[in-house]
Amino acid sequence: MKKPPENQILIKSVDDMHAYATAARARGESLGLVPTMGALHAGHLSLIERAAAENDLVTVSVFINPIQFDDPGDLAAYPKTLSSDSAAAFASGADVVFAPDATGMYPEGFSTFVDMTGLSERLCGASRASHFKGVLTVVAKLFGICVPNRAYFGEKDAQQLAVVKKMAAELNMGLEIIGCRTVREEDGLAMSSRNSRLSDEERFAARCLYRALNDANALFCSGEKDPVKITAAVIAAVEAEPLARLDYAELVDSDTFESPVTAREGDMFMLAVYIGEVRLIDNIRLTVDNRISDYTLPSKLHKTKGSAD
Ligand code: PAJ
Repeated sequence: MKKPPENQILIKSVDDMHAYATAARARGESLGLVPTMGALHAGHLSLIERAAAENDLVTVSVFINPIQFDDPGDLAAYPKTLSSDSAAAFASGADVVFAPDATGMYPEGFSTFVDMTGLSERLCGASRASHFKGVLTVVAKLFGICVPNRAYFGEKDAQQLAVVKKMAAELNMGLEIIGCRTVREEDGLAMSSRNSRLSDEERFAARCLYRALNDANALFCSGEKDPVKITAAVIAAVEAEPLARLDYAELVDSDTFESPVTAREGDMFMLAVYIGEVRLIDNIRLTVDNRISDYTLPSKLHKTKGSAD
């Protein structure tokens, strides 16, 4: 949804952003928020397009949140592409790009964090200590600054979506959290800002994630309901790829993220794999239709010129 360029603004100050958003809410306008760390690709743009369709105004935040990275190398390597990100966000329907700096978000003496037990300690939380504490803290701050009616998150990061939903409900944040389908490359690889860090050979090897998830679903469709056997098939598919190293492979209940005794339609298979140095995550919801229901081709969306992937 194209909007008049004169109404599209880049805001860097936290106070200015809050003033803009509270004034819009006071006028009765609905606000959508799409939190990102930039390096926008068609996956991010699908969230922005959905937010633009469902709200009067859309803010896209672009902030590489230092406190959610446990590996300083990963933080340093994160692509920084604010000007092409802003252009792509505006072309997809954003009204505001909010790009604060780290000291604006975490001034000297900052010491308040949002943390969660249980759900956030499993899977990505187990392999990346304090990752979700960093995510929840920045997301809570973005909700406080941008006062959205609705916030949009991708199902690619299914555990992140679940912890954000739980936080918003349990802390009575008074907004709706909306999950959006995973956008994939033509060969099935889930779009990610990290994909740009893969060499050609690694990019080819990264196809093993989607292949493994499809194997899990095919097995489920053939009648296999034992999570141990389904997991073994996924691990075998990953291990068949010499450049891949498994981080975790687990079937979970899509509400509790606990391991089910028997696989059921709607359960999620969660996968994290290192391809060389790059850690990629993906997931599918098991479906007896024998087709991956979250498959959206990027060609339906804007192509981002100069984006990281
Ligand atoms: P980032 O990795 O930039 O992702 C921003 C949003 O885009 C997340 O909600 C993510 O799930 C979604 N997204 C990424 N790839 C996608 C794809 N292929 N299809 C659909 N949606 C996709 O996730 C973060 O940033 C950060 O943790 C953040 C929430 C911004 C907090 O710092």
